[in-house]
Amino acid sequence: MGWVHRRRDHGGLIFVDLRDREGQVQVVFNPERGQEAYEVARRMRPEYVGAIRGRVAMRPPGTENPALDTGQVEVLAEEARILNEARTPVFPIEEETAAAEEVRLAYRYLDLRRPSLQQNLRLRHRVYQVIRSFLDRNGFIEIETPVLTKSTPEGARDFLVPSRLSPGHFYALPQSPQLFKQLLMVAGFDSYFQIVKCYRDEDLRADRQPEFTQIDIEMSFVDREGVLPLMEELIAEIFQAAKGVKLPRPFPRLTFTESFDRYGLDNPDTRFEMDLTDLSEVVRGTEFRPFADALESGGVVKGINAHGCSDYSRKDIEELTDYIKVFGAKGLVPFRVTPEGVSSPMAKFFSPVLLEAIRGVLQGSPGDLLLLVADQPPVVAEALGRLRLKLAERLGLLDPHKFNPVWVTDFPLLEFDEKEGRWSAVHHPFTAPVGEDVPLFDTDPGRIRAQAYDLIINGQEVGGGSIRIHRREVQAKMFQVLGIGEEEARAKFGFLLEALEFGTPPHGGIAFGLDRLIMILTGAESIRDVIAFPKTQKGQCLMSKAPSPVDGAQLKELRIKLDLP
Ligand code: AMO
Repeated sequence: MGWVHRRRDHGGLIFVDLRDREGQVQVVFNPERGQEAYEVARRMRPEYVGAIRGRVAMRPPGTENPALDTGQVEVLAEEARILNEARTPVFPIEEETAAAEEVRLAYRYLDLRRPSLQQNLRLRHRVYQVIRSFLDRNGFIEIETPVLTKSTPEGARDFLVPSRLSPGHFYALPQSPQLFKQLLMVAGFDSYFQIVKCYRDEDLRADRQPEFTQIDIEMSFVDREGVLPLMEELIAEIFQAAKGVKLPRPFPRLTFTESFDRYGLDNPDTRFEMDLTDLSEVVRGTEFRPFADALESGGVVKGINAHGCSDYSRKDIEELTDYIKVFGAKGLVPFRVTPEGVSSPMAKFFSPVLLEAIRGVLQGSPGDLLLLVADQPPVVAEALGRLRLKLAERLGLLDPHKFNPVWVTDFPLLEFDEKEGRWSAVHHPFTAPVGEDVPLFDTDPGRIRAQAYDLIINGQEVGGGSIRIHRREVQAKMFQVLGIGEEEARAKFGFLLEALEFGTPPHGGIAFGLDRLIMILTGAESIRDVIAFPKTQKGQCLMSKAPSPVDGAQLKELRIKLDLP
C-alpha cells in the first residue's frame, strides 16, 4: 500500500512507482496478468492511495535502476485497488523541489512527504529514544512541568494567555522550565529531565523558532564536574546512534575570555584555525592614524592570517570590509605576503621593520593575506570573529562531516546594559557566581565569573546551563545587583525564594536545544527542516493560519477589548 509517485503508460504495460515512508518500488501492470488490476492502474494518478497485490520479481536484465534502492526488483501486479483519490498536488512530491517555501509550508503535509523531511523527523525520533534510554539508565526521572505558568526570565518576551476565571490575569508560557526544575531539586528528585517545548517571543532567525524543544536536565549534589562529563557522554551517544560518529572525549574547553580572544565570539567554530592575534604591542607607536587612535583610546589592534589569500583583489577586500562594517568596524587593513616581502596599500605608513614584525607575529608566509582591525576590544572581536567565519566559508574550510564540540565556561555573571543603565544577568538570575568572586558583588560586579557553561558544536550554541544559586542570601544579593527590589522579587519569584529557605541542595543543570542538535546531525540549513509544523520568520503557521483573530464573544468572556489602529 502507498502513494502513486509516478505512473507511466507504455501502451501495453503500465508502470507505477508506489511510495511509502520506506521508499519506492516499481509496480508493473500487465493486462495478461490481471485485466482488472490493469484497468485500475489506468485510473491511478499521482498521490492517489493504492493497494496492490502481486509477485516480487527481478527486473529483466538491462532494465535495473541503480539510482533506486529497489532498482533490482519490481512487483508484477495481480490485483489493485484505489483506496483514495487525490487532487493534483500543489507541487510535485520530489526531493529537489522548485516550490516556494511559503507554498510548501501552507501544504506542509505534502512537503513532509519528501524524503529528506521524512528522514529528518525519523532521525529526530531516534534521538528522542537515545536520550530517554541514556538518561533513564543514569537515574534521571522524566517529569512534566506546567505550560500555563508564570514568567520565567530567559531574556525574551513572554507569550501570554489570558485567564477567563481570573479576569485581567494572564498565564505566561514558559521560556524554559528553569524555576520548576530547580523546585524539583528542592523536592528531592535528585536527577530530572524533560524533553520539553519552550516558548519565546523573540526575533526569529534561521536557527530560532518561537516554540522550540529543549532537552532539559537538572541534578542535585553536583558541581560543574558532576554535569559536564555526563553530558558529554549523552551527546556522544546521540552522535554515535544517529550518525555513527565517534566524538573524542573529553570535549575541549575554553573559558569565555579565551574564546573571545582567539575566536572573537563566545560560540567558536573550531573546525579550522585562523586565530585572532593581538598586535597592539607590535604596532604601538605607529603613525598610522587608525591604529594610533584606537590604541590611544584604550582599544586594540588584532589580525588574522588568511592563508593563501594574497591574490584577493581590491574588490574582494572591499567586500570583506563592507561585511565587517556591519559589526561596527571602521576599516580593514590588508597586508599581502609575497616572496619579496610584505606589501600593502598602507605600506608607506609602516617601516620595513614593522611590516616584518607584523608578518612574524601572524606567521605569514608568501601567499598569505594578513587582515588587521583596530577598535575597542568588543568591536575588533566581533568584526574579526565574523570575518574569520566568512573567510572559512569562502575557502571551504567548514567541513560538514566534521563535528567539533567545545565547552565555553566561566562566562561573566553580569553585563552592564547601557540603555537601561543597570546590570543584567548574562545567563539568568539563578546562575551561581564562582565562589571566590562573590566579594566582587560589592566592588566590581562586572568581573564576577558565573559557574555557567555553553556547549558549542561547529559554532552553533547547542546548549547552556549552570550551577545554580542555592542559598537565599546569595540569591538576594543577585536580585539586589540586578536592581530587582524585595517586593518585585517576591511578586515574580516568591515561590522559588521561599523554597530556598526549606533545605535546597546544591544543584545545577543544562538545557540542550534539541532542534539545533538535529539541525547539526542532519546538516539542515533551516530549523524549519527539522520541525514537523514550524512557523515562519513572522511567527505564523501558514497551514493553520495561526495566529488569527478570535470572535467578539470569546474576547468578551476574557474581558479583553482590542485597541487596534
Ligand atoms: P538557554 O536560554 O541557553 O538556557 O537555552 C538552551 C538552549 O536552547 C536553544 N534555544 C533555542 N532553540 C531554538 N529556538 C530558540 N528560540 C531557542 N532559544 C534557545 C539553544 C540554547 O543553547 N534554562 C536555561 C538552561 C539551564 O540553565 O539549564 C535555558 O533555557 O540551543
